[in-house]
Amino acid sequence: MYIELEKISKKYQNNQILTDVDLGIEEGSLTALLGPSGSGKTTILRIIAGLEAVEAGNIYIDGQRVNAVAPNKRGIGFVFQNYALFKHVDIYDNIAFGLRTQKIDEEVIEARVNELLELTGLAGLGDRFPDQLSGGQKQRVAFARALAPNPKVLLLDEPFAAVDSKIRKELRTWLKNLIHQVAITSVFVTHDHEEAIEVADQIIVTNNGQIEQRGTPFEIYSSPQSLFVAQFIGNGSTLQNVPVNGFDAPDKKFAYTIRPENIAIYKKEEKPLGIVEEAIVKEITFSGARINVLLEYKGHLLRGERSIQQSQLAVGETVGILIHQLNIFSEKASQPCGATKNKNIYTEIPYTI
Ligand SMILES: Nc1ncnc2c1ncn2[C@@H]1O[C@H](COP(=O)(O)OP(=O)(O)OP(=O)(O)O)[C@@H](O)[C@H]1O
Ligand SMILES: [Mg+2]
Repeated sequence: MYIELEKISKKYQNNQILTDVDLGIEEGSLTALLGPSGSGKTTILRIIAGLEAVEAGNIYIDGQRVNAVAPNKRGIGFVFQNYALFKHVDIYDNIAFGLRTQKIDEEVIEARVNELLELTGLAGLGDRFPDQLSGGQKQRVAFARALAPNPKVLLLDEPFAAVDSKIRKELRTWLKNLIHQVAITSVFVTHDHEEAIEVADQIIVTNNGQIEQRGTPFEIYSSPQSLFVAQFIGNGSTLQNVPVNGFDAPDKKFAYTIRPENIAIYKKEEKPLGIVEEAIVKEITFSGARINVLLEYKGHLLRGERSIQQSQLAVGETVGILIHQLNIFSEKASQPCGATKNKNIYTEIPYTI
């Protein structure tokens, strides 16, 4: 592992913030630290950067224990969520900043800054000031500035938080490609699970100062190992101790998480391929590509969805629902029962073209 945290404990005043945190990050990979507000993401990033001391544990970068190594000697580039650009100097000088502190020849600096302006799609904008750029462009300057001194590691704290949603999507694809192009080991913090799933090679889920689960986006999405992860990732709804037709309850006490894409919703006249259960449409919201439907099922609320190609539903309408798959967690089992498929769904009829 290129970056390794071993049994890290961190307190602020008397509050225990991180407890026995172990994590490993492979060389050249892009890792997302994903978790709710206050779960310790920024603290982990600042510990890797050397901006926070720890009470216990070891930090290794490239095989070297760096606990006592100063932040500017760790070979780390840091990108903050609010750009933190220097307002009164132009883009060129913003990017050159880290190189100038290293007393490098101005000719070498010029070549490197121009290379980075090109790489980040900012060629020709070197003499503008930060106020004369869009949010997406400012964030690209922040990346270029962090990359300029050729760091071994790039750390990004909510790098897309300050830009609007369309630019955000473009910027994250761009960042993913850039990071793989320059092959720099990178860690970014986010509390947006869709962002982590789209961008990262590895996701580390934090909760309450501990690591809940780590894995590829596919592993985290398809096999959540705790109720917390199942709830945090994928807009699912949770039912506690409510039996669902087609699934066996594992224990007296259990919880199901059900993702919207795993609930098929049928109007009365539509013919499902299984045994449906009744639900009432409580709320309908249009989100462009799909219709989000809030359902009341056995007195509980479930988030479902329907395609815009299907006939419309009305609030108050009684519909049939068929839950195709869910994640079951029993109180006793230390391991989740995993994604389980509905046993009452009839085999679908194969179609030919
Ligand atoms: N300088 C500090 N002094 C005291 N407590 C702090 C300090 N910095 C953070 N904390 C506390 O440590 C905990 C973890 O904070 P951290 O900033 O790492 O969370 P986070 O996961 O990055 O949250 P967010 O998504 O809101 O940025 C929180 O309870 C926070 O209040
Ligand atoms: Mg934070």
